[in-house]
Order: sequence, then C-alpha cells, then structure tokens
Amino acid sequence: MIIAIDGPAASGKGTIAKGLAKYYGLPHLDTGLLYRAIGQAMQNQLDDKDFEQKAIKIAHNIDKSKLDSKKLGTPEIANAAAKIAKIEEVREALRQYQRDFAQQKGGAVLDGRDIGTRICPNADVKLFITADAKIRANRRYLELLSKGLQADESEILRQIIMRDESDRNNPSGNFYEAQDSHLLDSSKLDIETSLRKAIAIVDNKMAK
Ligand code: C5P
Repeated sequence: MIIAIDGPAASGKGTIAKGLAKYYGLPHLDTGLLYRAIGQAMQNQLDDKDFEQKAIKIAHNIDKSKLDSKKLGTPEIANAAAKIAKIEEVREALRQYQRDFAQQKGGAVLDGRDIGTRICPNADVKLFITADAKIRANRRYLELLSKGLQADESEILRQIIMRDESDRNNPSGNFYEAQDSHLLDSSKLDIETSLRKAIAIVDNKMAK
C-alpha cells in the first residue's frame, strides 16, 4: 500500500505521515528532508552566479538515506530548501530515489508537496493535509519553544506565508493537491483526532 501525503509547511502532515506509517507498519519518507539537505549545503551560496549548477551537483551526490531531521529543522534551512526546490534538475535528481522508496515491497508512506501528483500519481491513498496559516504558525512557534529555542510568532507566520506562496508558484508545477486526494483540514483538530481521521480515510479507501 502506498500512501501519498501532501500539504503546506507545518500543516501536521509529517506527524500524520509518521503516525500512519507506525499504524500500518510501513516505512516512511519525509521528502522535505531531501530538499532541506541540499538547502543546508547551499545555505551560504544561494546568491552565487552558478548556484543552480552547484545545487544540481549536490542533489546527485548527497547520501539520501542519511538525513538528520533535527539538524535540518531550522527555518533558515527551510527557506533555502524552498529556493533550490524550484530547480527542475534538482527535483529530477531526487525523483527516482523517492519512487524506489515508494515501490518497496509492502509499500510506504511518503510526505511532501508533489507526492500525489508527480512522485506517486498511482498511490493507493492520497491525503492533502492543511490548516489555517495562523494556526500553523502558532504550532511551529510552540514547537520551537518546547525545544528551548527562541521564536517570534509573527515572523514565523510571515515566513510560512512566504513559503506557501513560493511552493505554490514553483514552476515545476503539480504542487499540492492531487485531484483524487482526500482533504483533511487539521485547523480545529488535535493531532490524535487528525490521525484517527487519516486512518479512517485510508481504511475506507482500501475497503473499496
Ligand atoms: O516539508 P518541508 O517543510 O520540510 O519542506 C521544505 C521545503 O522543501 C518546502 O517548502 C518545499 O519548497 C520543498 N519541498 C518540495 N517538494 C517536496 C518536499 C519539500 O519542493 N516533496
């Protein structure tokens, strides 16, 4: 069973993807980490003239199986990731790895921005997880505080809106919602309820 999950930053898609993977005993790939790893490597070179070529080279060479979610979790790396994610050759360099991950025996859960549309258009179940931008910013703010980090909620909201815009306008297209995806708006739901709803969607789809 392949479960494809897409949605904007801080929508809860990562937590729901992990929860579904655990529940169904499937491996999980957070595809945002692939883009973040390249963003991190390119952080000080984003304004270089040949930054596209450098990013493409890194995309081919990074060890995609060893990504440290803690180190890659900063807002600065997320912004760098959104920039390099616009380079079609970078996306191409990451595509086969994601598809192979999805195709492994028994299936997998993948989350990102173009999973249901471009990476796994034939996924068994597609979920689109979203939430109001202010709520997403508040969740990210509380998450950073809980890690003992300093954070400015209005700045987080500004960055979330900017990244949504940048991701939506990604020239590589086919971003966000697949036509056959199931919408889950988590704005008014806690994470347990969101996960229960996601499981119900998957079970219902698989029973058909
Ligand atoms: O999901 P996450 O916030 O970690 O993703 C970081 C950035 O990587 C996104 O804002 C987006 O620009 C890019 N990304 C992407 N395609 C994916 C996953 C992430 O373009 N499948």
